[in-house]
Amino acid sequence: MTHILHIDTSPRLERSHSRSLAREFLEQRKLHHPETTITHRDLARHPVPYIDHTWVTAKFTPAAEYTPELATAIALSDQLVDEFLAADRYILSTPMYNFGIPAVLKSYIDYIVRPRRTFAATQNGFQGLVTDRKMILVQARGSDFRPGSAYDAVNFQEPYLKTIFGFIGITDIETINANGLNTELRDQELANAKTTLHTLAITW
Ligand SMILES: Cc1cc2nc3c(=O)[nH]c(=O)nc-3n(C[C@H](O)[C@H](O)[C@H](O)COP(=O)(O)O)c2cc1C
Repeated sequence: MTHILHIDTSPRLERSHSRSLAREFLEQRKLHHPETTITHRDLARHPVPYIDHTWVTAKFTPAAEYTPELATAIALSDQLVDEFLAADRYILSTPMYNFGIPAVLKSYIDYIVRPRRTFAATQNGFQGLVTDRKMILVQARGSDFRPGSAYDAVNFQEPYLKTIFGFIGITDIETINANGLNTELRDQELANAKTTLHTLAITW
């Protein structure tokens, strides 16, 4: 059985291209694979707070040694990690913001990248614990960040997301990208993204 965790991040809600492409992918996915189950996490409507001093202390304290204060500080993070680990597929939709990702997504990543839960520090270095999973990144960009374009070298969105999710063990990552959405490329890029998503809805 496939259980997808669907994560949306754009604050533009109904006007968001990344949300709309992810939604269309999931509609198609359900059509072709009706057994698929989905949990939706909306980080724009329900942002997780930034980590603070107590949270960081809890992160590096074994659970058996938590004080009530540390247990409270880490509770939401535990819940988000449980939800993340309960899925075997992920569809993550996100805009490019300032060459990278929105702050709500970075905050979420801080909550789910956890020692002993999603990665381990071993004698041979770090090891991702979230294995045998697949992810699709749905990425919307206002400017042209297509491979080989002038801005391609300063795309910190896709390389970062592939690096951090690879770090916790997710290395099978596909992309549905729409570039130049604030330019004349928009219609063609949306059409290309839809072609990709319709194919992935069947094959993924
Ligand atoms: C705060 C902010 C920063 C942005 N930074 C970039 C950027 O660095 N590169 C880019 O191509 N587009 C940038 N954009 C444009 C968005 O990526 C574009 O509008 C995209 O469609 C947003 O995704 P959405 O439609 O899913 O909300 C930015 C938009 C905002 C609001």
